[in-house]
This record gives sequence, C-alpha cells and structure tokens, in this order.
Amino acid sequence: MHPHNLSFLQQGDSIMPSDTITLTDERTGKTYTLPIEDGTVRSMDLRKIRTDDADFGLMAYDPAFVNTASCRSSITYLDGERGILEYRGYPIETLAEHCSFLEVAYLLVFGDLPNETELKAWANEITCRTMLHENIGKFMEGFRYDAHPMSMLVSSIAALSTLYPDAKEVRDPVNRLHQTKRLIAKVPSIAAMCYRHAVGFPYVYPDNDLSYTENLMNMMWKMVEPKYAANPVLARALDVLFILHADHEQNCSTNTMRSVGSSMADPYLAVSAAAAALSGSLHGGANEQVLRMLEEIGSKDRVPAYIERVKNGEVKLMGFGHRVYKNYDPRAKIIKWTAEQVFRVTGRNPKLDIALELERIALEDEYFIERKLYPNVDFYSGIIYQAMGFKPEFFTVLFAIPRTVGWLAQWDEMHRDPEQKIARPRQIYTGERQRPFVPMQERHAVLTAKQ
Ligand code: ACO
Repeated sequence: MHPHNLSFLQQGDSIMPSDTITLTDERTGKTYTLPIEDGTVRSMDLRKIRTDDADFGLMAYDPAFVNTASCRSSITYLDGERGILEYRGYPIETLAEHCSFLEVAYLLVFGDLPNETELKAWANEITCRTMLHENIGKFMEGFRYDAHPMSMLVSSIAALSTLYPDAKEVRDPVNRLHQTKRLIAKVPSIAAMCYRHAVGFPYVYPDNDLSYTENLMNMMWKMVEPKYAANPVLARALDVLFILHADHEQNCSTNTMRSVGSSMADPYLAVSAAAAALSGSLHGGANEQVLRMLEEIGSKDRVPAYIERVKNGEVKLMGFGHRVYKNYDPRAKIIKWTAEQVFRVTGRNPKLDIALELERIALEDEYFIERKLYPNVDFYSGIIYQAMGFKPEFFTVLFAIPRTVGWLAQWDEMHRDPEQKIARPRQIYTGERQRPFVPMQERHAVLTAKQ
C-alpha cells in the first residue's frame, strides 16, 4: 500500500501501517491510530476524532505555521539545526562558488543544472525579454520622488499584469514557463527604474551584451559613457548574493506566492503579493533595518549599551534570529567571504566594525545563546550593498530580484501538485454569536470604549 493511500485507521482495522501514532481521546475514551508519513500526520485525519456526530472534528491549531507542512517540495532543502541549505540537492556553498546566477535560476526552475548549450539558450531567453513596455515608465512617473522603492516595485510588477493578459492561463505549463522568463527578465529592469526615478535620472535601457547582474548595474548607474563597464569583482559579488537569495523554501513571501497563486491569480499579481510580504522588516526588509540600526549605534564602543537595550526588550537586533535556522545561517558565512572581496575594491565599510563587534558580543551572551540567535542572511548583506553604492532603501529590492526565481519555481511546483487546492486555513472563532440587534438611536459609543 503506498503511504499516500493510507487513511485514518481505528484500532482493530486489519491493515495497520508500520509508522503510526495512537491517540486516546479522553473525552470519549476512544483510541485512534493515525498514519505517520514523512514525519507528519495529516491534519484531515484529526477531523475524524469527534465527540459525537454533531462535532466538527479535531483541528490542528498552528498560528504562524510554526509546525505545519503546507506542501511537498523538491526545490530547496533546509536543515535549520545543522545550518544546511541546498537547492535541488546541491549545497549552497558549491553553487555560490561555481555557478552564475542564471545557471542557478535554471536549476531552480527546471530541476537540473544546464549544460553549456542549455545555459546559453536560457540566458538568451531571459536577455531578450529585459525590455519593458513604455507604459511602465509612464506609470512610474506617477510616484512621488521619495516613494519607497519596494512599494514602487510591488506596484509596478502588479502593473505588468495589465500588459500580459495571456498570463491568466496559469494551468498551462508552457504558458507558466513563458511568464516565468518574462518576470525573471523584467524585474531587474523595473528595479533599476525605481532607483532612477528616485534620483531623477533618465531611465537606462537594458544592454543585451551584459550578464544579468552587470546589466542591472548598467541600468542603475550608467551615466553618459557610451558603454557601461561593470567592475567584474562587484558584478560577481552581486551574482553570489543573488544566488544566496534565490530561494528559501516556505517562508512568509513564498507562502504568499503559493497562497495567492492557489486562487489561479496570474503570476504578476502573485509575485507582486510575494514581494509585498518580503518588504516587511521581519523578513526581507530586515537588511535595510540592519543598516539603520548600525547608523543608530554609530560606533563600536556603543555596542554594549545597544545589546543591553535588546536584552531589555526595547529593540530587536535586526539581522539576528531566524524561524528555521537555530544554528549559523550558511548564507551569512558566504556573505562574510563576499564582503572581503567587495571591500578590496571599494574600501572597507566602517559599519563592518560595528557589525563584527555586535556579532562577537551577541554570540558570547547568554540571552542570544539560550534563544539560538545567530546572524542571518540580512546581517551583512546591507553592508556589502552599501559599499557597492546601493542606498539602504534599495536593499530589499536587491533581495526581491533573485527571490523572484524561487517564487516562480515554487508557484510552478504548486500548479503541478495534484494535492494542492485554493489555500484556505481554518480559524477558532472567538467572537460573540447571535447578538440581539440594537437600533441606531439606542447604541452607545463603542469606539472610545475600545481604545
Ligand atoms: N533580537 C532580539 N531578540 C530576538 C530576536 C532578535 N533579532 N529574534 C528573536 N528574538 C527573541 C524573541 O524575543 C524571543 O524571545 P523570548 O523567548 O524571550 O520571547 C525568542 O528570541 C524567539 O523569537 P521568536 O520571535 O519567537 O522567533 P520567530 O521564529 O517567531 O522569529 C524572526 C524569527 C522574525 C526572524 C526574529 O528572529 C526576528 O524578528 N529577527 C529580526 C528581524 C530579521 O532579521 N529578520 C530577517 C529574517 S531572515 C529573512 O527573512 C530573510
């Protein structure tokens, strides 16, 4: 019997799978045996545990999904206790050392590393789609000069949906791949526009001779020179950072991508929603907040006082802690190495000394040891980005560009999974019921009472 077909069993049933858990419902005295599959029990099996026929059945309560698997996935493997991260079975360290970002994008989307011919064709497929409809430029003009780049990015990606009505055919795998290529190609072009809009520079068209990251640098920083030449060390550093950020299994933004996509929304709207989820300071927005925090601390000697504030619960140490990693984030290690390469070109970012001191003190402190709080991917990425010339408000955009690949790979996987349906969690209702209606003239002011 295939584990998929295992159904809920009551004791005494003749077929009993080897991996099971037996529960006794003390309310009724009944005993139930649930199959365990891949270290999980199915929440729907709990539903059959009832006090009587009128009872809805037992549910699992898991606010913030801390212990609930929502899908099967073969994209990213993460072992938070051991600090392991793999894309399609390849360790992140190996990919960061040997691959280009587009090569890793191919791996995430198709499941295997490309050979030379495949990579060339793939790079060409992406490069030839980097141009944007001129309407996006006009749309961008509507934003105020000080609009946050992440808000501009989220809105402009959603606006792409108006230009590609064919993207609604989300059940068609060929169509999905087509939209995937478009999005991977166009998100950097939009990102660069957000930056040029903020500084008031004219938009720069993509240059198809350049690599993915060189082209982003070109669209951001080209001035009057006839051809932009990116510093190869910085372009490679950006490539490595993009590889590290390309996917991270079922986090807040990826869950959003899958959840919005599960309603059959088109991928532009779903990516836009995922990018919105990424923008928050507890998720991708943390890299900007780390820089703000380092600015606020100001110098190395003020680190101990800041750590005290963290321990008193006044502030969070941004860039520290992770829902899944309870050991060193493997990406943070590679980022530290990348920082050294970048600083050889740009000179050392003075914020690094503050960051290193924060890390040193935090890792020795009982508060952080007890809670297993280590630097995450965002702790050092901002320092590198700033040294390269990116502004802090742009850091999360630099996260969203590569993560678009992960979101799309996860979205495609969701559409291929016969077990997936529209995402729809349950709730425990805590409000009142069947209240008597009170006519307007008899109602008391409630707002002030609640405030
Ligand atoms: N600074 C100080 N204390 C922290 C921090 C932190 N950065 N992170 C967690 N803690 C404490 C919590 O206060 C809590 O303490 P308590 O047990 O005394 O109440 C304990 O550690 C457990 O933390 P939770 O908030 O329960 O952990 P959770 O898994 O919900 O949160 C999160 C993970 C959101 C990443 C959290 O660590 C955090 O806010 N970090 C700072 C923001 C950040 O860097 N986010 C980027 C994450 S990586 C990414 O999304 C790309």
